[in-house]
Amino acid sequence: TQTLATLADRHHLAVGTAIDVGALSDPTYRSIASTEFSTVTPENVMKWEALEPTRGRYDWSAADRFMRFAEANDQQVRGHVLVWSNQLPGWLTEGVADGSIDRTELRALLRKHVTDVVTRYKGRIWQWDVVNEAVEDGFDPGPDGVVGYKGFWYDNLGPGYVADAFRWARAADPKALLFYNDYNIDAFADGGSLDKTQFVYDMVRDLKARGVPVDGVGSQAHLSTRYPNYSSFQIADALNRFAGLGVATALTEVDVRNLLPEERTGDTINPLLQAQAFNYGALMQGCLASRKCISYTVWGFDDGHSWTNDWDFGGGVGTEALAAIYDEDYRPKPAYAQLQADL
Ligand code: XIL
Repeated sequence: TQTLATLADRHHLAVGTAIDVGALSDPTYRSIASTEFSTVTPENVMKWEALEPTRGRYDWSAADRFMRFAEANDQQVRGHVLVWSNQLPGWLTEGVADGSIDRTELRALLRKHVTDVVTRYKGRIWQWDVVNEAVEDGFDPGPDGVVGYKGFWYDNLGPGYVADAFRWARAADPKALLFYNDYNIDAFADGGSLDKTQFVYDMVRDLKARGVPVDGVGSQAHLSTRYPNYSSFQIADALNRFAGLGVATALTEVDVRNLLPEERTGDTINPLLQAQAFNYGALMQGCLASRKCISYTVWGFDDGHSWTNDWDFGGGVGTEALAAIYDEDYRPKPAYAQLQADL
């Protein structure tokens, strides 16, 4: 059989995975990561808390290891992530909380962060996630019941930081494609995610109209078999509508969670492996049907290293997991076969 990367190549599509740098010492992990995928994203090592744990003292070691891995395997890199409210260093959030870092200084710190990180890897990053998860979730739209901006940067700098970040990133590396990245923007549909997708659409349209250098919209696509499945038509429609704004699109963090079987949770639910495969496939078919969808990245490729093992999606840590295309023993699951079939 051919690899996903080889199959996707025929469609001029890059297929990728998030990389857990610590897992690269496992030879099986390393071998699959280097052969099946043509693009890679650092799962954690380019986040601010990892790069600058102590104020003014960068630690590039893990991020550099990641870059060496990608470049040794001729893989294109999605840089992740420049501006996000999570995984910020304690000195930064504490400084803001205790008032020792004021608004003017915070904006200068953000500008320096974006500039330093983009400059460090200038010319070596294909797509940068410049701003991540800046918008309220449609399922939890805040106290006023209307979807709007959210998070540390909005709270402390106001909405102008979004345009600023894209301009600073462009100035530091004019060749990198600059992305806005978010979850629950898979489809324009009835229900909870409607308002968020529309809000992000309006935001990107407004940024483009003002000449802000936004090159792409990344749809994370963290899905679950607990929720209604999107058709490939809905996925393609959303991607095409974003593309109509003059931006590329990408599926950036694809995974499809399952409720865990009874041997792990004590309940009687078994993983819906075919429903999971259906979701992976609908996303792939939607991406392939949309001319501007340039990459399809899974957020970890094996159940053993998936972030869903350690995250609480509402029912307790790790009860909704088994989200990847390979199982814990690196055996391909039906979802892997589905991607092979769709490509
Ligand atoms: C996750 C990582 O996978 C975890 O290892 C970490 O503990 C938390 O962050 N959206 C994003 C990613 O943009 O950066 C997140 O990654 C998953 C959700």
